[in-house]
This record gives sequence, structure tokens and C-alpha cells, in this order.
Amino acid sequence: MTKLRIAEILKNGLPEQALTVQGWVRTKRALKEFAFVEINDGSCLANLQVVLNPDLPDYTDILKRLNTGASVEVSGVLVESPAKGQRIELKASAVKIYGDADPEIYPLQKKRHSFEFLRTLAHLRARTNTFGAVFRIRNACAMAIHQFFQERGFLWIHTPIITGSDCEGAGEMFTVTSLNLKNIPKTPSQEVDYSQDFFGKPAYLTVSGQLEAEVMATAFANVYTFGPTFRAENSNTSRHLAEFWMVEPEMAFCDLKGNMDLAEEFLKYIFKYVMDKCYEDMEFFNQRIDNTVLASADNIINNQFERITYTEAIALLEKADKKFEYTVRWGADLQSEHERYLAEELFKKPVIVTDYPVGIKAFYMRLNEDEKTVAAMDILAPKIGEIVGGSQREERLDILQRRIQEQELNLENYWWYLDLRRYGTVPHSGFGLGFERLIQFMTGMGNIRDVIPFPRAPLTIDF
Ligand code: 4AD
Ligand code: MG
Repeated sequence: MTKLRIAEILKNGLPEQALTVQGWVRTKRALKEFAFVEINDGSCLANLQVVLNPDLPDYTDILKRLNTGASVEVSGVLVESPAKGQRIELKASAVKIYGDADPEIYPLQKKRHSFEFLRTLAHLRARTNTFGAVFRIRNACAMAIHQFFQERGFLWIHTPIITGSDCEGAGEMFTVTSLNLKNIPKTPSQEVDYSQDFFGKPAYLTVSGQLEAEVMATAFANVYTFGPTFRAENSNTSRHLAEFWMVEPEMAFCDLKGNMDLAEEFLKYIFKYVMDKCYEDMEFFNQRIDNTVLASADNIINNQFERITYTEAIALLEKADKKFEYTVRWGADLQSEHERYLAEELFKKPVIVTDYPVGIKAFYMRLNEDEKTVAAMDILAPKIGEIVGGSQREERLDILQRRIQEQELNLENYWWYLDLRRYGTVPHSGFGLGFERLIQFMTGMGNIRDVIPFPRAPLTIDF
């Protein structure tokens, strides 16, 4: 018999059609004359209702074993459903149980569980409605990202995960070593002797693929990298992970304005794609998690983002009749409460803030003529705060060298990065979109640990 996924059956299945489905039992309801079993196979939010008649072989035994969590294969014919809320159901002629799930001990019960509790069951939580919807949307976002760039002739490049340089200069890197931690070799001055380590010098997990993306942009003009990045910042917040995915386009012959235009078009494209492909899941989030999800998607797609400078942002924050925990001062970084005030309360849409003070941004950002600010741009989203961070890059060799030294980074490590400014340098720009923050923003999920299958955060590595 034809094997079909439930999404396909619910969409196109016709009465009298014979087929087989495979999935996991969500619920069971036994009446006198027959029983209903809801099956889910992850292809969509909705379950397929299966009707079992007592004339089915081994009816009593099978019914007893069809518990929440059991894996099954059901063959039968589709019939029009008399029940409300579904068009079609499956009348079973054969049921095979692959694996039982003992209802006495299976941790996922019919009732709703808290997300905190489900985090302790990361190996099972994908079988719930919310996490099913999250991971389908995550998949759709990834496809949208590739499609957006591929349609525009960007080359997808694969940047390394192990690196010798600190892209952000923030020193928040995990060390990668094969040294024996019980017997670390030391130099005469009692420093770790990295010459004996695997790479002969310190190595880390990358915080960003940007520096390598810049290399590739000087050959292919428009490139992007999309992969995991790592930060050892000890931020136990609902918006930080130690391992997260980042999308980083890099464009040669592109200034800050071109960079902002692309980022805005990009976000609109992803939202539109997901609304097209995953409307049912988006509706679910709107109903169950945050009732502004659909309106907010609409707002992203149809309205222009606000664009202000950092200096204007500071002025607006100073004028705000709101008490902030952190004082607002020109030269200090915007805190998440400030970012959220601007995007959520003041403009009620994403805000692109440009031209931050040179002292709070990374060494590679292009110095503006005022020499006080750099050509940076952050996109702030309602409820999340910073979702994109980017800039025009410093393409002038002398200024870049000076900036690296000012930030007390080791100039020698960046020799190849500086070569890009020695040979055929071009104005160029790029940005990084935090993939999990995007999904949080899109779905209304409150905690970033609930939009990645296996979150890594301080003291969190069980799965
Ligand atoms: O602003 P960030 O640090 O920028 C960069 O890494 C640049 N190299 C990007 C570029 O220009 N190519 O990080 C970019 C984005 C942030 O805006 C945020 O959305 C996300 O990455 N991000 C995190 N997401 C989850 N957990 C963390 N610890 C994050 N740190 C940054
Ligand atoms: Mg940033």
C-alpha cells in the first residue's frame, strides 16, 4: 500500500483511498463500539485520526498497547470524517506496533508540560505540538535563507569552526586543545606551552565566520556563511546561547546603506516564506504562545524598518518617560531594555541603529569621518532587542592596523586579514543574523533554549 506522510494525507487525501501511515500515538479514546487514535508523524501540527473497529484482528490487545508515545504503522482506507475540525480520517484494517511506550513511565503525558520541564526532556520534547512547530519553522527559515541568497547570486561558503583568531576581539572564546589537562606543558616563564599543542599555537571555537567571509568576498563579491558559532560569555539569559547559528553575508563594493537595505529585504523575505510554508504552525504560536505573532509578521513584511543613528537613539532614550535600570549615556552600549524600548514601545517595529561610538564596537568596523563613530548597524526587534549586528568594514590598511592595536589584539595573527587591504582592497559590508533570535522573534517563544533542539548554555550540556 502507498505510504504517505500525514501532511500530504490531510491536504490531498480522498475518501476510499487506501494507504499506510507511520507515526507516534498522541492520544487514544475508546468508546463502546469503536476507538479513536490520534497519530502524529511530525510532518505537520495536525494529527491523523484513526478509527479502530472491534472486528480488527487482535483488537483488544492492540487497543491496550496504543498508548501515548508508541510507534505504529496503520494501513486502511480514508473516509470522510463526521467529526468537526477534520476533513478526513483513516479506517484501520491493520495496525502494527513497532515500539510500546509504557503509560506508567512515559514522561510526556496528555496534559500540558512547562517548557522548563520539557528542557529536561530534550530527547522527547520534539514530539510535542510546540516543539514540532518550532523545528518545522526553524527548517523553513533555513531554506528561506539559502533561497534568498541563491536567488541573488551569493555563494554559500563554509567557514571553519576551529580558528586561531578572535573575530569580535571580545575574548569570549572556547579553547580547543589536545593537551593533557592533567599535565599541561609550560614554558620557562610558566605560561602554557602551546607549541606542544595540536596546532602549535592557541586555537578556539569560532565566534563568527566573518573574517573568512571577507576573504571570500574579495574573490566572489557576494558570499554568505551559515553555521554554528560559539561564545563562552557567561550570560544566563533568555537570549544567549553558548552555541548558536549565525547567517553572515558579506558583500564587496557595498556600503552601510546597501548593507541595511539587504538586511531589511532579507528579514522580510524570510517572514514571507515562513508565512507561506508554515501558516498552520504560525497560527498555533499566535493562539498558544503570543497573540501578536501573526500581526507582527505582517508588520515586518509590509512596513519599512525605522532607521536612526545611535546619537538619535540616545536622545530618544533620554527623553523617554521611563525608568531604565542602566543609565543612558552617549558612549555606553545600549542595554537590552533600551533596545526593547526603542523597537517595542517607541517605534513598534524593527529599528536599525547606525553609527555607534568607536569605543564599544569591534575593530573591523569602518571609522566614520567624525572619528568618534563607526559605520555599524544593529537591527533591534520588538521583544528580542538586537537580532542583527553588522557594519561597513574598515578597508584602509593604516586605520585598520591602528584599530587592531588600540584594542590590544595581536597584529601578527591578522596578517592575512590585513593582506586583503594590501591587495585590491574594496569598500565592503556585511552583517550577522542570530538564527535562534530570529526564530524566537518569529514564534514568540520566550526562551532561546526552546528554539534550538539541543541548547548549550552555562551548565547545560546533557543532551
Ligand atoms: O553582533 P554580533 O556579535 O556580530 C558578529 O558576530 C559579526 N561578526 C557579524 C557580521 O558582521 N558578520 O553577533 C551577530 C548576531 C547578534 O545580533 C545576535 O542576533 C546573535 O548574533 N548573537 C547571539 N545569539 C545567541 N546567543 C548569543 N550568545 C549571541 N551572540 C550574538
Ligand atoms: Mg552585536
